[in-house]
This record gives sequence, C-alpha cells and structure tokens, in this order.
Amino acid sequence: MTVSNSPASADAFAARSEKDRILIFDTTLRDGEQCPGATMNFEEKMQVAEILDEMGVDIIEAGFPAASVGDFESVAEIAKRSNNAVIAGLARANPKDIDRAGEAVRHAKRGRIHTFIGTSPLHRQYQLQMSAEQVYEAVVMSVTRARNLIDDVEWSAMDATRTEPDYLCRVVEAAIKSGATTINIPDTVGYTVPDEFVDIITMLKERVPGADDVIFSTHCHNDLGLAVANSLAGVKAGARQIECTINGLGERAGNAALEEVVMAIKTRNDVMPYWTNIDSTMIARASRLVSAVTAFPVQYNKAIVGKNAFAHESGIHQDGVLKNASTYEIMTPESVGVRASSLVMGKHSGRHAFREKLRDLGYELGDNAFEDAFVRFKALADRKKHVYDEDIEALVDQEIAQAND
Ligand code: KIV
Ligand code: ZN
Repeated sequence: MTVSNSPASADAFAARSEKDRILIFDTTLRDGEQCPGATMNFEEKMQVAEILDEMGVDIIEAGFPAASVGDFESVAEIAKRSNNAVIAGLARANPKDIDRAGEAVRHAKRGRIHTFIGTSPLHRQYQLQMSAEQVYEAVVMSVTRARNLIDDVEWSAMDATRTEPDYLCRVVEAAIKSGATTINIPDTVGYTVPDEFVDIITMLKERVPGADDVIFSTHCHNDLGLAVANSLAGVKAGARQIECTINGLGERAGNAALEEVVMAIKTRNDVMPYWTNIDSTMIARASRLVSAVTAFPVQYNKAIVGKNAFAHESGIHQDGVLKNASTYEIMTPESVGVRASSLVMGKHSGRHAFREKLRDLGYELGDNAFEDAFVRFKALADRKKHVYDEDIEALVDQEIAQAND
C-alpha cells in the first residue's frame, strides 16, 4: 500500500478515463436548504451557486421551482448565470411541478428536470395513498412529460432502499423506457448499510433492460452516519453520479458531504480509481460560505472542513508532524484550501512543538530558560483550556525578566 498525503500525481491525471469519472451533483441549494433553519435568501443562493459552478460541480440542483415564487426565481436566475454546471430543478410527479421546473431551467446552457416519487410500500400506502400500479403510471407520465420539455431528465425512486426489489426494477425500467437519462437511487432515510447498497445498484444494473444506457446515481442521507460510505459503495457497484451537499447539510442528519466524497476518492485513489471534476482547493472556501449564509456552524471535528481537521495537540502527533507531515496527515491542508496545519498548544503538547512555537513567536531561549519556560507552560496548560500565543509571550517575557533580575 502506498501512503501519501500529496495531491494526485500528473501520471494519475493522464490516466483518467471517462468511464471512471464520478459526476458530482450538489444539492446544497435544495436538499441542503430543507435542513430546518438553513434557509438562504436570493443573494446568498447566487453566491453559493457561483462557487459551486466555479469549483467544478457537474450538476447544481438549484431548488424546487414549484415550492414558492422565490424558489422559482432563484432557480431561473442560477440557470441564466451558470457557466459550466448543468442546472437542475426538482419536481414531484405531477404536470404542474414538471412544467414549472422546465420553465425555471429553460435558460440554462444545460438544464435538467429532476422528477421523483416515493416507491416504497410505506410511501405508497401512507404518504401518497396510491397503489403500486398508480405509482407506476405516475412514473411513466412524469418522465414522459419532462422528456417532452428537455433532453436531460433525472428520475428518483424516493425511499428506493426500502422498496421491494422486483418493484424497484419495474419502475426503474419504466423510467428508462419513458426517457430518463439518470436514475437516482435515494437512501431517503439513511437506513441502508454499504453492502446492501452495493447489492441494490448491482441488481438494477444486471436486471433492468436499458440500464447500460443511463447513469445511476446515489443520494444518501446520513441518519446512521453512513451517507458517504453508502455513496462510495454505490460507485463501486457502478453508480457514476453522487448527490451530496457542502458540509453535509440536509434534512435531519444531512446528506453525503461533498468534501468527504471528493477527498475520499482523491486520497484513496489506490483503492477507488475514480476521479471528479472538483477543484478541491476551493473546498474550505465553499464550506465557510455555506456555513456563513446558513448560520450553521461546522462541527470542530468534521472531516476535511472542521476547525480541527488539520490541528494537532498531542505532543507525539506534533513531534511527528514537525518531522514529516505524512505521519499524522493523509492529505495536505493546501489540497482542500487550508493554508497550513496548526499545532495547538495545550497540556498534551511536547517540547518539540513548544520550541517551534517559541521560534515562530521570535524567541530563542537557552537550554535552562527553555526548560523553565516549558514547565511553566505545562502548568498554565493544566489550568487553562486554551493557551493563546499571547499567554506564551507573557510567560516567556516573565522568564526573561526573571533571568535578568
Ligand atoms: O432524499 C430523497 O429521497 C430526496 C429525493 C427528492 C431525491 O431528496
Ligand atoms: Zn434527500
């Protein structure tokens, strides 16, 4: 096994082939905004769409045009402004929603209608109060109608992972025959485990006629913390689009996090030989923007974008990182747009990091003064949760003053 924390090499880039490309479908502006309290205004949505487009997202799900006039207007404006990405609008399986979505994405360089319906017995019986046959008919109607408006149609089987396998195959086949170009398999309630997800995608690819002519997509929620693992399992089974959000924002426990999916593929290219179009150096900026506009803080220990993702406090880790960053970092901070790793000074920090910190602050102490200062620093760190640079400066200045007395 090769362990590296450097970005992919030029050779790896040259070896990229289209069949290994994973399309990144970002739904921060739709599923992400469905997260309670994460509503964004028009201007904020424009800013998020702009950065998603710039960082290389393949498809931006800009909103749910039939949900409100505001949603319609922001989807339509993003469709006009976007330079690179396909712009998708969500629609339920009814003519009004589909026409509205078609109208909203009409001005995009490349637009997509994304239509869905619940297919599981639970959704059919309780939410939709429709029979299996009625849902089947709605799939045919909705995809056909969308396809009459636009060439790029995605169809989602909501709650696919709790749908009877034979029925799932039937409705997926109906969607393909009616003209869907992408088939999305949502794990709507985050119930699946990776092996099951592999089995579902594998089954669909093997059993459904026409499966080779469409792109299979994953849309995994994180209720059991498995959204990213399930998405990657789907890719292993042949899915070539991952639906995800910045910071993993989304309904309940959220969606698969874009930054985690992208960096997992990039960092573990040895076992997942795929690639995405994302400029990963823009990840930190996108994360900060989404956090700021939604007022949703990013948890400190969140993978890739958390404040602590490149911070080291333990003396053993700090010593290792100072000798060679790969000892405790599997990717470089620069590769995700973070300026540098940080050594956090606390009670677990050792001499090596303390000496480096003093050097950074412009101090060179002799051996005895250094030892005294280190003992005092440890005592301070025991009393104080956060030891700031100013604390260390005060402590060393005191040490120097005492030595001069
Ligand atoms: O989670 C889900 O099933 C969805 C669909 C609308 C794709 O968000
Ligand atoms: Zn969802």
